[in-house]
Amino acid sequence: LEGFFAPKLLAGRKVVLTAGPTFEAIDPVRGITNTSSGKMGYALARACAQAGAEVVLVSGPVSLSVPAQVCCVAVVSALQMRAAVAEALPGADVFIGVAAVADYRVQDVAEHKIKKSGDALSLSLVPNPDILAEVAARADAPFCVGFAAESRDLDTYAEGKRRSKRLPMVVGNLIGDGMGGEDNTVVLYDDAGRHPLARAPKAEVARAIVTHLAALLAQSGR
Ligand code: CTP
Ligand code: CA
Repeated sequence: LEGFFAPKLLAGRKVVLTAGPTFEAIDPVRGITNTSSGKMGYALARACAQAGAEVVLVSGPVSLSVPAQVCCVAVVSALQMRAAVAEALPGADVFIGVAAVADYRVQDVAEHKIKKSGDALSLSLVPNPDILAEVAARADAPFCVGFAAESRDLDTYAEGKRRSKRLPMVVGNLIGDGMGGEDNTVVLYDDAGRHPLARAPKAEVARAIVTHLAALLAQSGR
């Protein structure tokens, strides 16, 4: 019923989100990933759908069920995530990067399982593309929202990411405050400054983010 009573702040809008971790293969049975649970991204996808948006959620490997009225595209690696985002993007009004995209991938993925040798093993890592920065740099960029999970100096890093990626809005949180749990404490950053939100369940934080982004979107005249 939650969705039934939600104000339709994003009616007629298309929202594309990324969520979860990415998994970068080392060999057929191993890889590099991170501890993102996907909960914040899924909560946000649900809140966008409840606000009346058409929602495409490009998700890395998580164990969560897809919210009602959300179209989910499952991916594994950052390169797959980037391709799925490109495919989902036409017609999008909003792009929200919630995924904890691996910053690096293994340069040469082994075709067969790597056998232990007793010696040290080195892996060469190459940088992954920044999916959010690429979307925001497009001539036809939708309204872009980034996330910044930091272990210190939240204001500096979150606002720095907002500026360097040219995003109208960033959601910042200190890790430890939100990761993996049911609650989250976030600060929103936009052209007007910083807006701390009260600690709350992720569903509630997601609704507050939607309210804020819908207001900025309307303000921008889009
Ligand atoms: N992001 C992305 N693609 C990447 C890396 C990050 O789309 N390859 C997005 C994330 O989804 C998030 C934002 O960029 O919305 C910030 O991600 P974060 O990892 O906090 O920042 P980075 O720019 O990767 O910088 P660093 O990890 O060094 O702090
Ligand atoms: Ca990163």
